[in-house]
Amino acid sequence: MTKDKILVIGASGQIGVELTLALRKQYGNNNVIASDLREQNPLLEGTGPYVSLDVMNKEMLHVQVIRQNITQIYLLAAILSATGEKNPSLAWHLNMQGLLNVLEIAREENIKKVYWPSSIAVFGPTSPKQNCPQQTIIEPITVYGISKYAGEFWCNYYHQRFGVDVRSIRYPGLISYKSAPGGGTTDYAVEIYSEALDEKKYECFLNENTYLPMMYMPDAIRATIELMEAPASAITVRTSYNISGMSFSPKEIAASIQKHIPEFTISYKPDYRQQIAESWPQSIDDSTANTDWGWKPKYDLEKMTEDMLLNLKA
Ligand code: NAD
Ligand code: SER
Repeated sequence: MTKDKILVIGASGQIGVELTLALRKQYGNNNVIASDLREQNPLLEGTGPYVSLDVMNKEMLHVQVIRQNITQIYLLAAILSATGEKNPSLAWHLNMQGLLNVLEIAREENIKKVYWPSSIAVFGPTSPKQNCPQQTIIEPITVYGISKYAGEFWCNYYHQRFGVDVRSIRYPGLISYKSAPGGGTTDYAVEIYSEALDEKKYECFLNENTYLPMMYMPDAIRATIELMEAPASAITVRTSYNISGMSFSPKEIAASIQKHIPEFTISYKPDYRQQIAESWPQSIDDSTANTDWGWKPKYDLEKMTEDMLLNLKA
């Protein structure tokens, strides 16, 4: 049996750093090649191979895949919701062409497995707000959401038409302390913790009662690896799986921080991201992921706040 050799594209991002480290633990440091547009990442330095790579350059990507004997690709490079609204054509171009380059190389080189994340941003104002189901009305209003929804169907197409084993999760907003988030609408839920520790106050760009689906990074990393390790026969969704962690509003996350830092205060100054947040569901039904590959989150808001503050202080 050939040994797995994994290429992570977008390894210097919020998810990429932690996913690369987790994959290295599992598959061995030298079997996981980190790659990104950015030069070396200090959190990855010394933990395994790192190459500078532009996912838009299909020829260079193809050369790396062949040269490194890659058997699995995790594609994380993308432009997220808030940044995407500032430059819609760039977001569309990167999010679509990057995925198509990877899917095409996977087909040509018989890559064993591909991972590509979608997002709760595929949902729009006409989707159900509570416990949004796996299959429902999907009418996204952001370029990011449109690119994710189109991407889901490209993944499904490459699976049905060419047999590429591509798997995907619709991540909720992800909260982490290791690597900074890269321009999403849910980034407030990361910034708030470091501001609470450093400044004891935070001005939130969303209204106090804006509920959104969220997840702590250790759960997201575990979900990703569990999905990728599930037998192919268990995967019934080849677009992208809903998964759920928790749901809270800015007011509730502030209250959970105040239990540890009583002097912390929050104020609200909603901007263009409010409209994006309001277009998304408030909570997600992940029963299909649970049935197919046993998905279950471990962190709730209180457990996450405790862990975030502990690690940020450290
Ligand atoms: P991020 O912005 O933090 O990281 C993306 C990385 O991709 C960056 O390091 C960037 O330098 C790199 N990159 C950009 N253009 C590139 C290119 N042309 N070639 C190679 N690398 C390039 O994003 P993230 O939060 O880590 O998200 C990773 C994936 O997960 C994305 O597809 C995103 O849509 C999805 N997702 C993230 C969240 C979240 O809350 N973070 C939620 C839902 C889905
Ligand atoms: N966290 C992401 C964003 O806000 C959701 O995909 O863009």
